[in-house]
Amino acid sequence: MEKVGVLLVSYGSRAAAIADALCRSGNYDVRIFDADKQKNPFILERAAAQEIGLDMGKICNFAKKHQDEIDFGIVGPEGPIIDGIRDVVEKETKIPMICPAKEYAIEKSKVLQRHLLTKCCPDANPRFKVFDPKDCSSKDEVKKEVWAWLDELENNAVVKPDAPATGKGVGVWGDHFSNREQLFAHFLTCYEHGTVIIEEKVDGEEFSLQFVSDGKHLVATPAVRDYKRAFDGDLGVNTGGMGAYKDAGNKLPFMDQKDWDDALEIGKKVFDEVKDDGDNTSLRGVPLYMAYTCARDGVKVLEVNSRPGDPESINLFTTLKDDFVDVCFRILDSTLTGLNFARKASVVTYAVPMAYGGYRKTFSGNMRVDLSKAYELGEKYGDAIRIYPGSMELRDGGTYALGSRAVCAVGIGDDIEDARNISLDGVVNIDGALWNRWDIGSEGHIEKSVKHMESLRG
Ligand code: GLY
Repeated sequence: MEKVGVLLVSYGSRAAAIADALCRSGNYDVRIFDADKQKNPFILERAAAQEIGLDMGKICNFAKKHQDEIDFGIVGPEGPIIDGIRDVVEKETKIPMICPAKEYAIEKSKVLQRHLLTKCCPDANPRFKVFDPKDCSSKDEVKKEVWAWLDELENNAVVKPDAPATGKGVGVWGDHFSNREQLFAHFLTCYEHGTVIIEEKVDGEEFSLQFVSDGKHLVATPAVRDYKRAFDGDLGVNTGGMGAYKDAGNKLPFMDQKDWDDALEIGKKVFDEVKDDGDNTSLRGVPLYMAYTCARDGVKVLEVNSRPGDPESINLFTTLKDDFVDVCFRILDSTLTGLNFARKASVVTYAVPMAYGGYRKTFSGNMRVDLSKAYELGEKYGDAIRIYPGSMELRDGGTYALGSRAVCAVGIGDDIEDARNISLDGVVNIDGALWNRWDIGSEGHIEKSVKHMESLRG
């Protein structure tokens, strides 16, 4: 088999899923060169070399050191993409990178995204107003402006910092605050660090589409539903995502055909606007990971990211039928005209440390996590279960949870219920002081989404 070397810029379970997809290649013998935030045990086991630390200089030196063994690079986390890892590695080495170039990391600014949408698909853009600390002289002055805008929105507002905050800086009227003073207190915690945007809150059900591109073609992938809030029933603070589900087809149970068509159309319009005329290989990878809301009057854009979602991309990597290394080569050759997914549902459930998401104020116990029983479930389920450590590290011969989402259990099945049962079996077999949501992809949660859309659509 042909040998292929891949520089993997990693963070979390998403990177473990990418490593797994690469190593499952039936056409190539893959060697992974892993630039990682920590010693991820899953990736380490599969890697030819690993470098810890995600600063640009470290990644670049690691890439330079191994460039003769590396055919291409692929990047998961947003930080290095926004900082321009593609530009730097491609300038300093001969390694082509699969991720957008710095200029095209749309994720870097929510204000930029809103302006872009105003240009190319205004109907999908909720009303918004930008508050830039440079334009305002005093706290009283900005408070007056916020109040005036809340009058127009009838308080139905979402507060977001302009800069990426992994979803955690977002505050929603009715969820995170129930009066203006609370909203303003949250606004100020963001505003003291930079520009803030206040948008109209859109009532509806959320989903995302991750678009893959070679710079010429834009290929949509099946819709995925993420669970942002910490606790069951969508309560608690926003997190990076506690889990996600995808159905066997392209749509989700609460979406109708028009939602799917609209979502595709919006993605294409944004892509055309960004790439200008002709091809633009700066948009390689996942240049658009569009978060949408199905609303009463059509699909609206919640935000635009420029990388694979975590966990949303895990639902896709585990159901992709194509050889992922071939997909990467097609991205690099500008011949990616389509992607094939198995007609399978997938459910990802994250297990997280005690203090994550405010489940406990503090936790001073042992962070050791033993995944052996969860891995053993492969004997029962075969490829239909995947266990991907995320914010975990190998230390002194053991594996330990760190501060963020520790490990996810992925179930793959003929329908969402099958997939969920497998995912939960995986989670309950993880030995460690971790907790998880129980309603990811549950019948009750999905039924609620379906009813919600029925009531909105009348
Ligand atoms: N799950 C949300 C994100 O990847 O940004």
